[in-house]
Amino acid sequence: MRKIKLSSAYFGKEEAEAVAKVLMTQVVNMGQEVMHFEEELHNFFGRSEAHVTCVHSCTAALQLAIQACNIGADDEILVPTFTFVSTFQAVRANGAVPVPCDVDLDDGFIDLNDAETRLTSKTKAIIPVLFAGCSSKIDKVYQFAKNHNLKVIEDAAHCFGDERIANRDGIFCFSFDPIKNISCGDGGCILTTHTEITERLKDMRLLGVIGDTERRFQGKRSWNSDVKELGWRLHMNNIAAAIGRAQLAKFSEIRMLRQRNANMYLAALADISEIQLFPINAKTAVPHIFPIIVKNGRRNELQKYLADAGIETGVQYKPNHLLSYFNMGYALPNAEKLYDEILSLPIHPLVTEDDMAYIISIIRRFF
Ligand SMILES: Cc1ncc(COP(=O)(O)O)c(C=O)c1O
Repeated sequence: MRKIKLSSAYFGKEEAEAVAKVLMTQVVNMGQEVMHFEEELHNFFGRSEAHVTCVHSCTAALQLAIQACNIGADDEILVPTFTFVSTFQAVRANGAVPVPCDVDLDDGFIDLNDAETRLTSKTKAIIPVLFAGCSSKIDKVYQFAKNHNLKVIEDAAHCFGDERIANRDGIFCFSFDPIKNISCGDGGCILTTHTEITERLKDMRLLGVIGDTERRFQGKRSWNSDVKELGWRLHMNNIAAAIGRAQLAKFSEIRMLRQRNANMYLAALADISEIQLFPINAKTAVPHIFPIIVKNGRRNELQKYLADAGIETGVQYKPNHLLSYFNMGYALPNAEKLYDEILSLPIHPLVTEDDMAYIISIIRRFF
């Protein structure tokens, strides 16, 4: 029987050769590979005024971005409950309180009406999560933030390669973890036009050692530097950057495959009345996941039917307010409904056209 995994990396000999090349230089810590990766990402994003800072993960990117916005102990940040636990932990890592907010049922995006009811004098920021790359309501978040004097930090873990990001003057945190649109093994980056934030990020990722980034890029050590604030060991290393560079070089192929798979689902599932599709724009976005909503309480039945046919699926995500550590004692009904009904289908680049036709035929047979 066929076995189709829900998610997978997309590595080949290019990545293997890139890693081997770095290993043979004996310089595997942060250095020139990271510098080149940051330059290449900068060119890729196509925004001359923006800066790229590579870090260990998207979780690290979020944690450092929050710190760079001067948000700390006892401050509150509005976060959609329907996200990976990283978003919540990054807030806690700063001593701040992640305030779970409900989400809209059509796209899992933060429900700003609910968010408004959770504002207090301690609220300092909002973190919209661009769930499944759906970002059509993002302008409303910036307006909301302006009205309430909040910082916006975008969790763009699902959005690498989305053309629409180029227009916003924000702080974007991307993930290059093993199954994202590009992978470094583990990795992430912050893209922002705010120069003063970038300057702090570059030191904060290296234990706060002032100017260490520049010296490492020149192959030098920092023997006599000052430290003026809390820093972490959250930089990216040369091995991870080399993998990322190889992935970026083949991103047009990755984009094409992910968009092809998303478009096949969008066309083939649209007429099934028991399925609700997310408003995924597979022309401008490069979908990282492909969730569907299964109506009439049949999600688990469909998931089992697909598993029996060798097709792995997932439930992304368990809302964070249902986790003991983040429970604030209130219900968030839309997120809880989504949690009962959502199902992620395989979409990664190793899912062939033939696999796609197979998955679609099994889903259609089920309904
Ligand atoms: C929405 C969201 N935010 C943050 C992350 C964390 O990314 P990373 O694994 O690079 O820390 C993920 C990873 O799956 C994610 O899906």
